[in-house]
Amino acid sequence: MFGSYRCMQRISFCSKTLANSQHLFVNFSSTKPLVISNKSTPHRSSCRSFHTAENRHGKVVPFLLADIGEGIREVVIKEWFVVEGTHVEQFDRICEVQSDKASVTITSRYDGRITKRHYNIDDTALVGDPLLEIELSKGEVDQVDDVNGSKVTEQLQSELPSNPISEKVLPRENNLGKVLATPAVRRIASEYKIQLGDVVGTGKDGRVMKEDVLNYVNKAIPGRSPPAAPAPSQPQVSTMSKPVNQQQFDTAVGEDTVIILQGIKKAMVKSMTEALSIPHFGYYDEVNMTELVKLRKELKKSPMLGEVQFTYMPVMIKATSLALKDYPVLNSSLIGEDKVLQKAAHNIGFAMDSPDGLIVPNIKDVQNLSILEIAIELDRIVKLGQQRKLGQDDITGGTFSLSNIGSIGGTYAKPVILPPQAAIGALGKIQALPRYDEDDNLVKQYIMKVSWSADHRIVEGALMARFSNLWRSYLENPSTLILHMK
Ligand code: COA
Repeated sequence: MFGSYRCMQRISFCSKTLANSQHLFVNFSSTKPLVISNKSTPHRSSCRSFHTAENRHGKVVPFLLADIGEGIREVVIKEWFVVEGTHVEQFDRICEVQSDKASVTITSRYDGRITKRHYNIDDTALVGDPLLEIELSKGEVDQVDDVNGSKVTEQLQSELPSNPISEKVLPRENNLGKVLATPAVRRIASEYKIQLGDVVGTGKDGRVMKEDVLNYVNKAIPGRSPPAAPAPSQPQVSTMSKPVNQQQFDTAVGEDTVIILQGIKKAMVKSMTEALSIPHFGYYDEVNMTELVKLRKELKKSPMLGEVQFTYMPVMIKATSLALKDYPVLNSSLIGEDKVLQKAAHNIGFAMDSPDGLIVPNIKDVQNLSILEIAIELDRIVKLGQQRKLGQDDITGGTFSLSNIGSIGGTYAKPVILPPQAAIGALGKIQALPRYDEDDNLVKQYIMKVSWSADHRIVEGALMARFSNLWRSYLENPSTLILHMK
């Protein structure tokens, strides 16, 4: 389970390129989903420039899935906000898509009427392919951009079908002779060991769709799944979020199921694999939380918190940042084989059990925040995460991570470092346990176990132990935190 951190590793890597990608007019907001648009706004200075073409009122043009950046080549459609026939204006929401990094809201770049949607919910859409067709409104100046943001010539535009829906001759292969299908569809076909060329494609230009493959498989399996059927049953295919095409696959008890991993869960496979290259050093200790348990009881009553839930996390996050000040190598990344990038910002990530799976959003610049400010930011991020509305900014750029598995249960864990970070801590459940005091009396204490993992290429065990001791001292003597408040 702790390998789940890895799903965020690629996200962390890409924070810089993300920042640079604003010229593509990807709007980042810490409070709203990522919005992609081609229309300039006053508060974004670096916007994509567009090519003004003729007035194409009444013409149907394809609405391409623009380049989201970050090397994202495909997304999964999570929700449509329009149906065929809907009139939209520029900036109206079109759909919500999920990449392996974040949720993105696609907004309209035209005024017009939707004439066709190319995908169903849970379909995979490729960057550069049409998401939908749109009939431009009167007065709409068609500003057609290509997927990379460069200008598209009129000549190219005239090559686009004026109304792709009515096209009769549909190529089934691309100009390399390859059957048109998304990688997700190819994967399903390969799971079933069937040739895509054998499947009749019903998508645009004869593209083989997921349903086509499933239909083909359905027909190809003789005597589908009666319990006593002699033939071995084929594995059932479903996505991680919901079963694919239930009508076509009557679930028989005992059938194997192939689950297509998407979005965050798919990214986890890649990032987990990447994390294997890091030699992990583990260090474990226990923290006496008795004083902090008392203090939290008091602080929870503070009117300054308003609706904000005050848990142990804000204090543990602040203590982490304070300890990182003394041991900055733990807030760094190894570059190549002989350089370490020590990061000035303490962007403390925390593992979160979200509806889409494990995510690791982070609180930025914790070194500059009070515990109250951290509590407010944590509350905001957790609420957005629960609503699947976190923006890229919230889930990229982390420099150190904590995982409060103790909020679910358990005492120890073996956390996996989130590359390119250097260390991570897993926090166990705070439990009332007997401990000896200084006078050898058995007393009830609140104890929490902490499990650290550090990149042993750049972090020595002794340094990790000293960091942990300092961190522990802040939690065991929470009043000392006051001395560090700004
Ligand atoms: N021990 C005992 N109690 C704990 C605790 C712990 N380690 N962590 C949290 N609690 C308490 C909180 O103080 C809170 O108590 P309250 O109701 O009296 O206020 C309650 O449990 C609920 O806390 P929670 O909502 O979980 O908030 P949080 O700020 O402690 O944690 C998250 C927020 C996002 C970290 C947490 O909800 C979460 O998702 N944890 C799972 C992380 C995970 O999946 N890790 C594994 C990765 S592979």
